[in-house]
Amino acid sequence: MKIDVLLGLQWGDEGKGKAIDVLTPTYDIVARFQGGTNAGHTLEFDNQKFILHTIPSGIFRENTKNVIGNGVIIDPYILINKEIKSIAPFADVKKNLFISLKSNLILPTHRLLDHAQEAALGNRKIGSTLKGIGPTYADKTSRKGIRIGEALLPEFKEKYAKLKQSHLQLIENMGFDYSQIKIEGLSFEAFEEQWMTALETLKGYQMVSTEYLINNALSEGKAILAEGAQGTLLDVDFGTYPYVTSSNTITAGACSGLGVGPSKIGKVYGLFKAYCTRVGAGVFPTELKDEMGEYLQNKGKEFGSTTQRPRRCGWIDLPLLKYACMVNGVTDLIITKVDVLNDLDSIKMCTDYKVNGKLTQEIPFRLDDTLEPVYKTMPGWKQELSSTQIPRQLAEYINYIADYLNQKIFLISIGPDRKDNIIF
Ligand code: GDP
Ligand code: IMO
Ligand code: MG
Repeated sequence: MKIDVLLGLQWGDEGKGKAIDVLTPTYDIVARFQGGTNAGHTLEFDNQKFILHTIPSGIFRENTKNVIGNGVIIDPYILINKEIKSIAPFADVKKNLFISLKSNLILPTHRLLDHAQEAALGNRKIGSTLKGIGPTYADKTSRKGIRIGEALLPEFKEKYAKLKQSHLQLIENMGFDYSQIKIEGLSFEAFEEQWMTALETLKGYQMVSTEYLINNALSEGKAILAEGAQGTLLDVDFGTYPYVTSSNTITAGACSGLGVGPSKIGKVYGLFKAYCTRVGAGVFPTELKDEMGEYLQNKGKEFGSTTQRPRRCGWIDLPLLKYACMVNGVTDLIITKVDVLNDLDSIKMCTDYKVNGKLTQEIPFRLDDTLEPVYKTMPGWKQELSSTQIPRQLAEYINYIADYLNQKIFLISIGPDRKDNIIF
């Protein structure tokens, strides 16, 4: 068996949680491979709404195992207090969640560092989620991080104290007074205490070498879906650097974040919205800073699942999507939030960039706001959508995108609920 991957092709929030939820009945395991509590994946079913940050989106299916892989970073406070507690009545987390012993911990001081580093950047700040993501991955790659498996060992307390001290020193050297920074509305000391309590609670959950779990399951013929977080344009190598997150969000990240070889990758589902959004700073060539942008924001309810920040909105960007398909080796496309465009007379899509007077579909090394997007306008379908019928204009719109990307679009999402889909 091969492991399929589902990931976002834009700047995140493409609807990955919902799409995974739709696909899970055919999978035995869903596994997260990167990112951390910066992610916010929304699932809606039976008139209920859930937002997951670290737990994979297969957790509500009784017979699906859910794996938090080694590439994911974990904040025990959020995992216990913001996720497990809220979903406990609806999911058997003790039975169905498996955490990699090799996952790195997001320490309370990583969150302080995130605040301090963002503040130090002033108007060049990334607009991070302030969840400690950058500093935790930086410690991981500079070999100073603490893995969750080490929390089970006697030397943990000493290692924690040393790393904490070095972080506090760093913050002081930057000229910040950490007592002024609140984490989850708490003082550092209060947060740290709750973080430690949550870490103790977490020890009651299944922590294993998930690379064995995944590879053994593949050998037994089990179907596995790897769940991406963030999106391709936030990838630390291929995204709009430095306005990116600190992990590899692309398909290759599934190999390193779960411990599976590239030969084991099967389908790659690439997910994108019918328009484009971005939270935080950074280039956004097709951004609409006008009434239309506001319209998409309101109609699409474009407010961050993790930070509640308004998401910047713009038209779909096909050259960027083509690039994302290329670096991920996408095999199947899913388009989401098509219903948000239902009332529009016409819909624009960026088909080319004008660079130095010349048209190109290739993404230049310096992607900045001086690029001029060139748009194609298509007629809207001007009607509510249902799962059983596709208006002609929508079919034309979908076929244009599929032809441009040279890929098949197999699922059209037309609402937030697990039932709101058109199989194309
Ligand atoms: P993720 O991070 O990729 O999982 O996406 P988020 O959950 O952060 O944001 C997607 C938002 O759009 C959530 O509020 C979903 O409930 C919602 N959503 C997903 N698919 C659709 C869709 O097809 N139409 C509409 N209107 N909303 C959708
Ligand atoms: P999901 O999985 C949208 C953005 C932040 C910021 C940049 C770096 O829900 O799609 P970080 O906290 O990672 O250091 O922030 O990345 N960002 C996301 N934007 N969806 C996400 O996750 C995101 N995770 C991080 O807003 O611009
Ligand atoms: Mg999200």
